[in-house]
Amino acid sequence: MTQPVLGILTLYLNDAGTLEERKYYERMTVEGRKLGLQLFVFTPQDVNDAKHRIYAHFYHPESGRWARRWTAFPSLIFDRCRIQRTPRFEQLLKFRSRYSHLTFLNRPLRNKWQIHALLSKDNRFSAYLPRTRYIHSVNDVRDMLKSHSLLYLKPINGTGGRGILRIERLAGGLLNVQGRDQSRRIVPPQRMSGDKLGSYLAKWNLQDVRYIVQQGLQLKLSNGCVHDYRLLVQKNGEGKWGMTGCAGRIGAPGSITANLHGGGRAAKMDQLLEQWIGDAAKRDAVKREVEQFGVGLAEYLELCCGALCELAIDLAIDKRGRIWLIEVNPKPAREVFIRAGETETYRQAIVRPLEYALWRHKQKQRKPAAGVASRDMTEPPAHTAVSPETADQDDNKMRRPSP
Ligand SMILES: Nc1ncnc2c1ncn2[C@@H]1O[C@H](COP(=O)(O)OP(=O)(O)O)[C@@H](O)[C@H]1O
Ligand SMILES: [Mg+2]
Repeated sequence: MTQPVLGILTLYLNDAGTLEERKYYERMTVEGRKLGLQLFVFTPQDVNDAKHRIYAHFYHPESGRWARRWTAFPSLIFDRCRIQRTPRFEQLLKFRSRYSHLTFLNRPLRNKWQIHALLSKDNRFSAYLPRTRYIHSVNDVRDMLKSHSLLYLKPINGTGGRGILRIERLAGGLLNVQGRDQSRRIVPPQRMSGDKLGSYLAKWNLQDVRYIVQQGLQLKLSNGCVHDYRLLVQKNGEGKWGMTGCAGRIGAPGSITANLHGGGRAAKMDQLLEQWIGDAAKRDAVKREVEQFGVGLAEYLELCCGALCELAIDLAIDKRGRIWLIEVNPKPAREVFIRAGETETYRQAIVRPLEYALWRHKQKQRKPAAGVASRDMTEPPAHTAVSPETADQDDNKMRRPSP
């Protein structure tokens, strides 16, 4: 059997060709080698379609350096691309569609609103969803305020706690509004009457950016900081879903989000749960339910959206031990485990997708060579189309030797 090669598909962060997550890819390369899996990193900009070659980035653990060279297409692709409002993203959409016959470990997921709509249709998941509406106008927010005294407004394509607003209806009827802007800067609390809300929200461009409004959960710890949980579910070396770990996140003082990138810190799930729910039996039941929920959710979303190999699920657990789904992330960072002191979970979080890649490769080799004999999860369902973020094509190719 030929040695499998895993290509990590990513996007440059700027025109200077900056790659994100280098440290993570370095660790993946080292772990991949131990398993007999070669790795490289590439972006759609590095692909020569005519010659069917890629000008890829290889990490060399011996020297600790990165170097580039032309290479053949990989046996498997791990897609780490996150939405950008740039022409690079448009190129990515073209790459995904042109090479959709290749073996992708994971296909793009949907935005927050589409995921909510998918899950609300299935009663195994709908009970976990905070009430959520798409914002067509400020009236959607006003309506939600009638039945919920706490709301979160979030961009459907947002990440890392950007552009999030928290609106709380206070006892006297005034509203307390605070959040984080698109650059993740803290927007300090501001009190206003209900009739000022419209003009305040006008600045947030809710229709153009596309927002949802969601029932807010009271997640303040005794020190006043909000918290939530990050659950990681991944496929293993037998192609089966399992929970790799779950860790807590505590928001920075004055922050309405718990994301680590917004200054949050990580904590072990047990430590956080102990200060939140007094009854030990209840805590155990919650932990079992978290695992069952995460695995079931991943299996279901894979059926709806096409191949997946990992998902990070943001969860809230209320005082009564009820679990609420906040968000599903298809391209998770896994730093939360190392920051929570769970080094073995962190290692597994890196190794599992590699073991899964090897399993997929073996499955592929067993299949008859002629085309795709039977449809499996490598193919996205026909309705998986992702709408383009931008329309312009990037012709700004980086200088390189010829393939
Ligand atoms: N409905 C909610 N109730 C309470 N806190 C929430 C709610 N929605 C989001 N948050 C807080 O805001 C953070 C960011 O929200 P999330 O939906 O995960 O968006 P992002 O994609 O920006 O991470 C969450 O991790 C959580 O701390
Ligand atoms: Mg999140």
